[in-house]
Amino acid sequence: MDRLLISGGVSLEGEIRIAGAKNSALPVLAAGLLTREPLTVCNLPHLVDITTMLQLLGCMGVQRTVDEKMNVQVDASTIGNLNAPYELVRTMRASILVLGPLLSRYGEAEVALPGGCAIGSRPVNQHTAALRAMGASISVENGYIRARADGRLKGARLFMDLVTVTGTENIMMAATLAEGQTIIENAAREPEVVDLANCLKRMGADISGHGSDTIVINGVDELRGCRYDIMPDRIETGTYLIAAAATRGHIKVKDTEPPALESVLNKLEQAGAALRVGKDSIELDMRGRRPKAVSLRTAPYPAFPTDMQAQFTALNAVAAGTGSITETVFENRFMHVHEMNRMGANIRVEGNTVIVEGVDQLNGAPVMATDLRASASLIIAGLVSRNETTVDRIYHIDRGYECIEEKLQSLGARISRMPVR
Ligand code: UD1
Repeated sequence: MDRLLISGGVSLEGEIRIAGAKNSALPVLAAGLLTREPLTVCNLPHLVDITTMLQLLGCMGVQRTVDEKMNVQVDASTIGNLNAPYELVRTMRASILVLGPLLSRYGEAEVALPGGCAIGSRPVNQHTAALRAMGASISVENGYIRARADGRLKGARLFMDLVTVTGTENIMMAATLAEGQTIIENAAREPEVVDLANCLKRMGADISGHGSDTIVINGVDELRGCRYDIMPDRIETGTYLIAAAATRGHIKVKDTEPPALESVLNKLEQAGAALRVGKDSIELDMRGRRPKAVSLRTAPYPAFPTDMQAQFTALNAVAAGTGSITETVFENRFMHVHEMNRMGANIRVEGNTVIVEGVDQLNGAPVMATDLRASASLIIAGLVSRNETTVDRIYHIDRGYECIEEKLQSLGARISRMPVR
């Protein structure tokens, strides 16, 4: 297990390139199960979660080929079993994304039931209820979801009780090969859902309304392979911009997609950042000034993303003034707060809100990462601290941030990875 060592106090300066979006790449790779033709996925980020998804497809018998440009071809014509084992599902909840495609194309699937995780209980009842409404019989036995369809799934009008990103993606994939029309109401509008829909359409699916809260899918008999470029990662983009704002720096992020970041850019401007937004780049300049505290509330897209609140908590910790951050998507996403307080932050939790009173400076300390985005927030806290910070359990960060220490080093940060024996 590695840890990160950070010597804080440097303002980030320079340019970096943004990787492909993890949360888009995972469902797109799962979509490879929907066709017997090869699907080539380009702009894949180099992340542990992507390796886990490829491993999962591999253990079902899907062939994976990597070309010299690191594009990955998945070929499900060789699929041998329809089982997603617990050993992989427990390391990555997004493994549930194979359920819809497997059931729709092969009429059966066995997927380990994902457990709770550090940020909440995270059930998958919306996924299974919608598949049942499409005619599947589903039971949970020995910790596995066992799903079966008698012939093709049937299109249905589905109202999702709550907005779920992977739930919408799972059902959208299942509906592409179902008989008749499926309408998903109260669908997730996240850009990654739109990216998946665009890939499925290129594979021959008949989908409309993606990006709105009503998605209409007319089932087709079969899908074909294609080549698809994953959209840039908006959460990675936002994380580097927040790190630059917190350290009073000046950076440019390239190969990104600014329209997907509107709510985040809005908050950065409120924090005092000067932004220059290009077609596929964002330049942020704090002109050496201390950020101002911001208040925000997370909610499904296009509102402020839950995956960015922990990073803003780190910014608020050293900002001028008091900011409040309310989390409405997950029930337990404030684990980073206690670690930041150990670094001298002044943060208190009141129900699903954290109140952050900015202090002049944080002090480095050994801290422990608890989940992916919490790890990113602790790195930002380390970058704005006096002295040294060590962040333990960084396997969380390797799940979602490609080469984070190299990218931060190229922006001038003093950060290195140390193996722990
Ligand atoms: C996805 C993202 C994750 C992000 C989250 C919210 C991927 C791979 N992950 O996760 O980074 O933080 O969206 O934007 O895309 N819920 C239920 N029943 C269900 C499904 C969800 O109660 O069947 C609840 C969850 O517990 C949570 C809320 O709905 O409280 C939203 O979760 P959801 O959108 O499903 O998150 P994920 O798709 O798992």
